[in-house]
Amino acid sequence: MIKVGFLGFGTVNSGVYEGIVDSVHYLEQILQEEICIQKILVRNKAQYLIGKQKEVVTDSPEQFFAEPFDVVFEAMGGEQPALEYISFLLTKKIPVVTANKELIAKHGQLLESIANENGTFIGYEATVAGGIPIINTLRSQLQWTAVNKVSGILNGTTNYIISKLKNGDRTFSSVLKEAQQLGFAEADPTADIEGYDALYKLQILCKLCFGVWVNEDAFIRNGMSQIESWNFNVGATLGLKLKYIAEAYYDGHKVQGNITPCYVEKKHPLAAIEDENNGVYIQGDWLGNFLTSGPGAGKKPTATSMIEDYLHQIQKKAKFQEVNKRWKVNSSTNKEFIVL
Ligand code: HSE
Repeated sequence: MIKVGFLGFGTVNSGVYEGIVDSVHYLEQILQEEICIQKILVRNKAQYLIGKQKEVVTDSPEQFFAEPFDVVFEAMGGEQPALEYISFLLTKKIPVVTANKELIAKHGQLLESIANENGTFIGYEATVAGGIPIINTLRSQLQWTAVNKVSGILNGTTNYIISKLKNGDRTFSSVLKEAQQLGFAEADPTADIEGYDALYKLQILCKLCFGVWVNEDAFIRNGMSQIESWNFNVGATLGLKLKYIAEAYYDGHKVQGNITPCYVEKKHPLAAIEDENNGVYIQGDWLGNFLTSGPGAGKKPTATSMIEDYLHQIQKKAKFQEVNKRWKVNSSTNKEFIVL
């Protein structure tokens, strides 16, 4: 019997719950075991007193952590108490799958080492680019390949806002409200708008692309609230597209980068990524360039990543090795965008 726990029950974890319930027979065939939803920890259980979850919802951490879980899905967001909770679970050898990008960007190194020491794993596929399977792809398919540069549209909310604002008939606040209703934006959308969300995702990509955890001081971050309608008009006149891009590269000495609104040429692969979609563009000497794109936010894509991550990790028993991958760099590919 696989006993499943949930830390938080917002957009993402309710999606994971529904995904598991809807596909339980199929999942049980894959895993060759029965699945049981054991406990869900929420801040306030009053809203769950009716409905299917009422038997398993608790707002008592003591009650939750007394359960014998086989996996816990975490989507509470923020550093604490998520760090404390996940560290505790990993110490108990319980695998964790998380969508919490702030937590992984700031404490991923620590959590991976706790997981390693205890022979378990922390999966974080869902922290970057929603439903696009980029993390495990980079981890397992680009082990040898040296990456010179990674750039991307990593925030669905801001890409959605830019896509809707460019025609000039919508206001920033009405499109942001729509993005919140659609489940793309964070509960507090400041992290989306001011670029913290994209920064965390870029830091996580750096670990996978360059093999090192990079501190946030290495990046220049400009929010997109500074965008004004004339920026779109100037771009259109020059044949350029306005995008909110996060990029990081190895300059021969260290990894650095920026998160900023910028103009891209219309033929650039990231120029075509619209709405809440994300794109990750990887450049390397031997590999050449590749783009992966798809849904970057939303309940079902992110829940898909969480469930796939669990299956991937459980089948692979991932090993987290600290390997510096920066074995070659071509700095001529580094400057591409026109920063606003
Ligand atoms: N708020 C995030 C975004 C959700 O808009 O991209 C997915 O990480």
